[in-house]
Amino acid sequence: MTTPVLEVSSLLMRFQGITALDNVSFSMESGSITSLIGPNGAGKTTLFNCVTGMYTPTSGKVAFDGVDITGEAAHLVSRHGIARTFQNLALFGGLTVMDNLLVGAYRQGSSGLLQGALRTPKVRAEERAAIASANEVLEFLGMPDTANVLPGELSYGRQKQVEFARALMQKARLVLLDEPMAGMSASEKSAMTELIQRVRKQYAMSFLIVEHDIPVIMDISDKIVVLDFGRKIADGTAHRVQADEAVIAAYLGTDHTAVAEPAPA
Ligand SMILES: Nc1ncnc2c1ncn2[C@@H]1O[C@H](COP(=O)(O)OP(=O)(O)OP(=O)(O)O)[C@@H](O)[C@H]1O
Ligand SMILES: [Mg+2]
Repeated sequence: MTTPVLEVSSLLMRFQGITALDNVSFSMESGSITSLIGPNGAGKTTLFNCVTGMYTPTSGKVAFDGVDITGEAAHLVSRHGIARTFQNLALFGGLTVMDNLLVGAYRQGSSGLLQGALRTPKVRAEERAAIASANEVLEFLGMPDTANVLPGELSYGRQKQVEFARALMQKARLVLLDEPMAGMSASEKSAMTELIQRVRKQYAMSFLIVEHDIPVIMDISDKIVVLDFGRKIADGTAHRVQADEAVIAAYLGTDHTAVAEPAPA
């Protein structure tokens, strides 16, 4: 068995009086698309925050590529190779799309603060490489003409893609997307779906996705983890999860679109 890219073990997160995550365990295969679903308030974003170092879990363990990263600060987690997007857009409104992407690249740079202040040749070389890389990502996303515009001038779907692009700039091995399709039109959703699949293939990235659009999730996920009131109530393939009585009762209801059983390998 290969080492999982992410392994969450017995994760517990308590806020005053609220148990947001209650003994949650699951693992993610390297190169996979895993989705985290469940009703509002189930603990999905809290789990993202525990994995990315924005919250320190009350107890339990988070391992990335077999390395224990539990409780590490967010900037250290991102240096390990984990990037994320936020449920509410977190772009810098006053910066161009290019500069928003360069903020993502900056975390990759190895030059120290002093070198940065002095703009040594090494710093300038890093900047040139980052700009080239940002142009490449924008090209890849089919939006090369947006480099110099402000995010606010773009559609909401496009802005979500810029956030996605910024996560890609970090050359992460694992990308966490918190509701990447929320507020998107049907065509923007299918573009985003196609993009995630293309990136996974081309850059060998793994994705952990929180999303309420069930047909999209059923379509792209290798594995689905279902949370309800902070507890994991099911995990497995789309086929398995959508047939699970507890998942139907807590979240899916009976009118969700059925997914065909995959053909035997
Ligand atoms: N910093 C915090 N302080 C106190 N309670 C919190 C905090 N963060 C999250 N919670 C609580 O933890 C629970 C889980 O919230 P969370 O945001 O993780 O849900 P979610 O599954 O992402 O929901 P949604 O689908 O609405 O985004 C909620 O009851 C929420 O109020
Ligand atoms: Mg959330």
